This record gives sequence, C-alpha cells and structure tokens, in this order.
Amino acid sequence: MTLILGIVGHPLDHSVSVPMHMSAIFTLGIDYVYLSFDILPENLSHAIGQFKRENIKGFNVTIPYKETIMPYLDDIDERASRIGAVNTINNESGRLKGYNTDGTGYLTSLREQTGFDPRGKQVLLIGAGGAAHAVAYALLEAGAGHLTIANRTREHADMLCRHLGVYFPGGLLRSIGMDEINEGDHTQSDLVVNTTSIGMKGAGDITMDVTGLGKHAVVSDIVYNPLETGFLKRARAAGLAIHDGAGMLVHQGAESFRLWTGLRPPVDVMRQAVLKALQEHR
Ligand code: ATR
Repeated sequence: MTLILGIVGHPLDHSVSVPMHMSAIFTLGIDYVYLSFDILPENLSHAIGQFKRENIKGFNVTIPYKETIMPYLDDIDERASRIGAVNTINNESGRLKGYNTDGTGYLTSLREQTGFDPRGKQVLLIGAGGAAHAVAYALLEAGAGHLTIANRTREHADMLCRHLGVYFPGGLLRSIGMDEINEGDHTQSDLVVNTTSIGMKGAGDITMDVTGLGKHAVVSDIVYNPLETGFLKRARAAGLAIHDGAGMLVHQGAESFRLWTGLRPPVDVMRQAVLKALQEHR
C-alpha cells in the first residue's frame, strides 16, 4: 500500500514542499507519495476526518491553519502545545497527533548558515503568527537573553508575549508596534528576524533601517521566495550577515519526514530540490 503524505493549507499554489519531499522519497526508494491538499476553511473539519485513514501517514500544515487545526487533533506533542502551533501531523493508528518542527528547523538553519548562537543575545522578532510562535520559542529555549516582538496588530504581539512568558518568565519578553522598530534600543539587536509574509514575491518590505544595527548583527528572514528579500538585500548592502528562509524550510521538512517515516532524511537532496523549485517558480 502506497502511503500518502502531504501539505494542507490555503491557498497552495506551487508548494515547494511537494518537490522537496518527493526528492527524498525517490532517493530512498520508498513507497510513499507527497501531495498538495488545498483545503478551504469550511472543509477543514471534514478533511481532517478523512486524514485518519490508514493509507495517510501524515501531513504538514501551513498558512492559515497552523493554530486553527489544533482543536481537531486527537493529541498534541508537549513542545507543539507550548509553542501554540503545529506544522506536522502524524497518523498514529488512526489518531492524529500534532507536532511542531518549525522552531528546530529555524535554529538548525540559522546556526548552519551564520553560526549564530542565541545564548544571552538580544533579538528583535517581527510578527506574531504561527511561525513567530515557533521561532520565538526556539530562540528562547536556546537561551536568548531578551526578545522583543514587533507586530502590525499590537494585541497579537502582547498575546504572544503573555503565552511565552508562562514558559520563559523573568522579564525576557517585550512587545511593540511595528511603527516602533526604528526607535529605542532595537538598533542594538544582535539578531533581527522577520517571521511575517512581508517581502514574499516582492510584496512590501520590512521598514526597519538596518544601517543602524551593529556590524556583528545577523538579519534573518523566513520568507524563501524570493530567497533574498528586499529586507535581506538592504542588510547585505549594509555589510551585515544574512540568513534566508530556504534552510528553515529544508530542516523543518527533514524533521517532519523523519517523524513520518522513521528514516534519516536526505537533507542535501531536499535542499537541492528546494533551490531548483524556487528557481522555476520565481
Ligand atoms: P503564519 O502561520 O505563517 O505565521 P499567520 O499566523 O497568518 O501566518 O501570521 C502572519 C503574521 O504576519 C502576523 O504577524 C501578521 O500580522 P497581524 O498579526 O497584524 O495580522 C503579519 N502580517 C501579514 N501580512 C502583513 C502585512 N502586510 N503587514 C504587516 N504584517 C503582516
């Protein structure tokens, strides 16, 4: 029986996850297929019921369902529950269990591409959605000294601070509005990371003035299409180290693949497939 994996989201045009996971499946020669499930919000609950079938092994979850899918699951891994979002679901004998591989994927990629160690560092994180939950959690878990969350809707940043403050007490967290990112001590941040979709396919730009950052600072963007967003271009021009979103995509995917199949994921093959797909869908 061919086992089905896939990605659930909406809209889902040209998901890079499909070629990424298919490259891993072909390389290992296993009897799996990875499909794209573009599901409308009103059909989500029905679809989840169908995903309990024994030939569906698991799936990724993306925009806009990383938080809203949680109530439909039978079980949630403790880390995902603390993060407050899931990006991976595993069918465990007809019970759907939610996990989150975004945070570890982000951190592995950040370390790989820049060597950045969050311990004791000052971080400015832009965004307060599902991806922000995972990235913020991973940075705090890795010992970040201070984390400021900036978001368009200030209440969402406040809520994320309160949520994370339960697990990371001690005044490490602060929220600000997006209009405040060029004020105060944010210019002294060691890491600035965009976790929103701003800059995707060239739409919009993070309005932070990166020229004020210290020369040691790292500027990071989880957007991977384009690989170098306007934000990263400006940071590179200012002589700063940059970190793009492709590595997070690859490493979160690799962790999901390991969870579903129990096999060691061919990370380099997956990375090549992502870069090729991104070139084709520019
Ligand atoms: P994901 O699961 O990918 O993180 P999400 O949960 O929908 O997606 O979160 C999207 C994030 O991007 C939010 O922080 C959102 O800001 P709001 O909380 O104000 O909605 C932010 N975002 C998306 N589009 C934006 C835009 N055009 N300008 C500013 N922020 C934006």
